[in-house]
Amino acid sequence: MQKERHMIYFDNAATTMHKPPEVAQAVADALTHFGGVGRGVHGASLSAGMAVYEARDTVAGLLGAPSASRVSFTGNVTESLNTALFGLLSPGDHAITTAASHNSVLRPLYALEDRGVQLSIAPIGPDGSLDLDEVEALFQPNTRVLAVTHASNLTGDLYDIDRLAEMAHAHGTLVVVDAAQTAGVVPLNAVEQQIDVLCFTGHKALYGPQGTGGLIVAEGVEVAPLKVGGSGTHSYDREHPAFMPERLEAGTINGHGIAGLAAGVAFVQRVGVEVIRAHEDALARRFQQGIASIPGIRVLGGGTPLGRTGIVALNLGDVDSGQVADALSVDFGIATRAGAHCAPLMHRALGTEHQGAVRFSFSWFNTEQEVDQAVAALSQIAAELG
Ligand code: ALA
Repeated sequence: MQKERHMIYFDNAATTMHKPPEVAQAVADALTHFGGVGRGVHGASLSAGMAVYEARDTVAGLLGAPSASRVSFTGNVTESLNTALFGLLSPGDHAITTAASHNSVLRPLYALEDRGVQLSIAPIGPDGSLDLDEVEALFQPNTRVLAVTHASNLTGDLYDIDRLAEMAHAHGTLVVVDAAQTAGVVPLNAVEQQIDVLCFTGHKALYGPQGTGGLIVAEGVEVAPLKVGGSGTHSYDREHPAFMPERLEAGTINGHGIAGLAAGVAFVQRVGVEVIRAHEDALARRFQQGIASIPGIRVLGGGTPLGRTGIVALNLGDVDSGQVADALSVDFGIATRAGAHCAPLMHRALGTEHQGAVRFSFSWFNTEQEVDQAVAALSQIAAELG
């Protein structure tokens, strides 16, 4: 097994591996001090409940939730998106998404389609672009939800969620945003940007542990729960509590992980989202400049006017992406992600369905020196395989 300290980790769009030290400390403290969150009146339970409430407040501060009580925690963004989509859509409703969506949006929508929800998917251009007129043309009188990704997990291309929300609301449609790739690295404000349901995950740019995520639900929007059960309150009621945030949480939540997530979010706030974004952007640009002269490199996407997150996805001639990623990992200790990235329609749109792509994704903890090493590694691989 490779020693982690020597690995250059460029797979942050999957999970950030290097976390601020206070995240692990917060989880360790929680593991040794927390009782059940909201499940007792003794000190261990009350302090866990207080810490989770503070975590809601911290997340609400970063992502612009109307209040801490509109933040429900989940296990990951997939659970958040399933909760939002199954909780808003019923047979006979129509939903719209785009080909930039991850399977965490597509598969719930396909499952809903099998249950009588109509689905339309706006195309993405071969450069990653989204034509807003093509989205506009898809609305119907029964369009209940527009589900859009803020940034592609394959290319990092950012989509104009402000204009998409405006468009949706003009049609009386709710907008659900998949912010998996942007929460923590692109400024977001659910209230100001009029996002009805904002879905986020903890383990990427919020620097939290895996198994944490959540959704922010706008005031006045009612999402039916995906799961019901123990809530710690109203135990004699037949139905799960209807009030947020417990409405969308059943069973003991991941208080230990959420303590870590809160530390990660506090770190992001301390450094500043804009500062983190500028750092990742500078690394991505340096990398792109460095590889520009390597023969046969094709960088994917880049076709949206808002730019992209700290992702550069590429291919080397017609070499299989898995082969390039293997060479990077085995010969140079550089971790990237190859293949389909759970984004099948995006790969089809970009013409990389069979080849996949090698995705480099940067974080606050990456350095220029690491980027330069990756450029040199790719040069060498291109000379051998290209
Ligand atoms: N969706 C994550 C990725 O893009 C796991 O890698």
